[in-house]
Formats: sequence, structure tokens, C-alpha cells
Amino acid sequence: MKQGFLALILAAGQGTRFKSKKLKVLHTILGKSMLQSVVDCVQKLKPEKIYIVVGHQKDEVMRKISSPEVSFIFQRKQLGTAHAVLSARKDLKKEKEKNVLVINGDLPLITTSTLRPLLSFHRRKGNSLTFMSAELENPTGFGRLIRSENNSFKIIEEKEATSAQKKIKDINAGVYVFKIKDLLQALPEVSNLNKKGEYYLTDVIEILSRQEKKIGLQKTSHPEEIVGVNNRLELARAAEVLRGRKIKKLTEEGVTVYDPQTTWIDLNVCIGRDTVIHSSVIIEGNSKIGNNCQLYPFVHIIDSRVGNRVKILSSTMIEESIIEEKSQVGPFAHLRPKTVIRSGSKVGNFVEMKNTVFGPGSKAGHLTYLGDCEVEEKVNIGAGTITCNYDGLKKHKTYIEAGVFIGSGTELVAPVRIGKKAYVGAGSTITKDVKPEALAVERSQQMEKRGWARKRKKK
Ligand code: UD1
Ligand code: CA
Repeated sequence: MKQGFLALILAAGQGTRFKSKKLKVLHTILGKSMLQSVVDCVQKLKPEKIYIVVGHQKDEVMRKISSPEVSFIFQRKQLGTAHAVLSARKDLKKEKEKNVLVINGDLPLITTSTLRPLLSFHRRKGNSLTFMSAELENPTGFGRLIRSENNSFKIIEEKEATSAQKKIKDINAGVYVFKIKDLLQALPEVSNLNKKGEYYLTDVIEILSRQEKKIGLQKTSHPEEIVGVNNRLELARAAEVLRGRKIKKLTEEGVTVYDPQTTWIDLNVCIGRDTVIHSSVIIEGNSKIGNNCQLYPFVHIIDSRVGNRVKILSSTMIEESIIEEKSQVGPFAHLRPKTVIRSGSKVGNFVEMKNTVFGPGSKAGHLTYLGDCEVEEKVNIGAGTITCNYDGLKKHKTYIEAGVFIGSGTELVAPVRIGKKAYVGAGSTITKDVKPEALAVERSQQMEKRGWARKRKKK
């Protein structure tokens, strides 16, 4: 049986190069914080336990990342990565004979196919330490890997490096597997006599080398996974990589994406087979899209559920809503939170809905606002219909029962109920309930002056 291991994720630093009030590792890429991405990846390796070292904004981190498998360790002062690991001393001591995977929390692109071989290589060789390097065209900012003849290793941090050393393209990735016992005895030897005045975890590599412990190095063949996101440009670049990965995965699962360059789909979004995504579509949050849907250009969906065979036409925005199967929405429609479009209905041009249930087979084709409204099945809402749901103090409900026909240009002043199969004449301002199967018209009589235009001209 494989021996279990622990995981330790370092996430206590503020990330000053981000110039943000928000903690660096809580910044999100495609709907997921960088730290969550690292946690999710590590979790898939099934460690016995995951520890996260927290410091800056620890409460925020603990609130956002909490899961039963994760425990938090508090690093009161951020004195460096070695000091961060040392904060976990107590918990590590209990599992001395095991290994620990230590990983920086700012590596959102790391994958299990990179971490798994590192762990198995470490176990196979019985190493004290196995760490990961990468060869980067632009190694700026990373610790550089220095190798001496007797297979000993040393990392020189960017700040400490001579200009010759800065030219080295082999860098330290920030991913390590240690034998806990050896890690714990080496850590106290790390000093902070360096330019940053920090305890560098990377110094442990040199210390263990000096002690002639068995050290392994694995150079990743996926250097793009190793970007430690230290500033906003690197954040944007990481997003680009994750975006590409997400779209690739969707296409492999049977989704058509016309223009991957302009398509943004958050990491947690699910999309069914044979759905077609046209260019410039954005789908965010925990959205779920069914099979055989068509999403036309500039559709923007946030935290919503879309059933099978739904058509969403151009420039439509959908927030926290549900669209059931075979419905059609847009172009230029806006579904605001808590809207439910039941199956087979049609919501057309410049229609806005909020907190509204729109019954099966109902239609609102043009220029309409329905707010706090319950519409039953097979209702026809004429162009320019507006629910007056707000009286300046409170919101009120409008009920439109099955089979109702609302004429164009109607205002429905809530609270109000339109009974089953009733008709409302165009241009009415309805303030009282309408009985089932009645016709309600509220408008003044039309007057007509014969020959008026001719007489006006003579004047
Ligand atoms: C670190 C490595 C560097 C490597 C690079 C890879 C050190 C000294 N250097 O540099 O060799 O090439 O990662 O990306 O380790 N943290 C704490 N507590 C602290 C300080 C940092 O928890 O006291 C956490 C940070 O939140 C971060 C991680 O450790 O998630 C790494 O710290 P960071 O400052 O980003 O290190 P780098 O300068 O990038
Ligand atoms: Ca970093």
C-alpha cells in the first residue's frame, strides 16, 4: 500500500506586487480563487490532510476556502516561506515518518499530472527532498537553480542573484516533497541574513544538500503551469491559460465553440453535448447549460441554469435565473435574478424580467418589463407591457393567469390579478383585478374631427 502524505499550502503572504486590498491568492480567475485552484488540485491527489498556512486576511481565507478536508495554520508574522512551514511544526511532528507536499498558494495553473509524478518519483527513490524546476524563457522573479558537481543543489533568489546568476533559466517552481523528519531538522538552520531579511524555504535545499541527504529534482515539461502569479499581468496570463484549458475540455466533451479566442467560460460551468457557443459569449459562476442549446454572440450568463434545446439570441444577459427546455430568449433580453422561464416560452427583443415566473408556452415578444410577476401558461404579453411593481416604498406582485391576452402598451399597476383567459385592451392602465374571461379596457374614447387637416391648411 502507498504511504499516505500530507499537503501544506503556503498562503499567508499579502502579495504586495498585486497592489490590492484583497489578498493575492483570493483573486479569482474564471470564477475560482487562485488558492481554491491549488486546493482543488491537491485534493485530487488524496493527501491524508491538507494544511493551509494563513496570515494576512486569515478569516477571509478560512471563510472562502473552508472544506472538511482542510485545516488552517496561522502564521502570525510573515517572515518568509521557511517560517511559514515552521508554523506547521506541531502538526508535522506528529507524522514524522511521512512525506509532505509543500506548495505555494499562488500556482493556480498547477495540475495533478504534474504533481503526481513528483510524488511517486520521491517515494520510489526514497528521497529526503524532491523538488520541481522549470526552464523558463523569462526567469525573472524566480529563484534560480544552481547545481554543483557532486549533485548538490542551491537556490538563489532573484534579489540575491548576481547578474550572471540571473541569466540562469532553470528556476525553482515552488513545489516540494519533503520527508517530514528531515525537513523539521533542517528548518531551524535557515537564517534570515539576506536582502529581504526573510527565512527562505529554498535554503533548506542547500542545507539538506550539505548534509548529503538524498535530493531529487524533477524538471517539469509543462513550464506554463509554473507561473507564480505575482502581479496583475501574470494574473491575466494565467487566466488565458485556464480559459484555453476549459474550452479544450468542453470541446472534447462535445460542445462546439466557434471562437475560442473570444469565449470566456468559468471553471465551474457545465455545458451539455451538441450545444453551440457562438463568438463572444461569457458564462460565469456555477452556470449549467443543457444539451443542444444555441448561444448566439454576446450572450452573458451568470449563475443560471439553462435546460436542453434552448436558444439564446444575441446580446442577452441572464443573471441567477432558470430557463427551461425549448425556450427562446433574446435578442437584447435581460433576465435579472430569480426569473424562471418555463418550457417552450418565448422572451423577445428588449424584454426585461426580474423575480418573475413565466409560464410554459407564454410569449413576451417585445419591449416589456415584468417584475415580481407570476405568469401562468400560454399567456400572450403584448409589446410595451409594463408591470408597475414599485410604489416608491414597496414591491407588489402581479398575477397573470393561464391563457390571458395582454394588449400592447399596457400598464399593470400591482398588486393586481388578471383572471384566466381574460383580455386586456391595448393601452390600458389596469389598477383593479380583472375577472376570468372578461375584457378590460381602460382608455378614453377616441374622438375624430372630420376634415380637420384641410381646414387647418386654409388658415
Ligand atoms: C518563491 C520561492 C522561489 C520560487 C517561487 C516560485 C522562496 C524564498 N522563494 O518565491 O524560489 O522560484 O516561489 O513561484 O520560497 N508565504 C507565506 N508566508 C510567508 C511568505 C510567503 O505563507 O511568510 C506564501 C505566499 O503567500 C505565497 C508563497 O508563500 O503563496 C510564496 O511566496 P512568494 O512571496 O510569492 O515567493 P516568491 O518570491 O514568488
Ligand atoms: Ca510567488
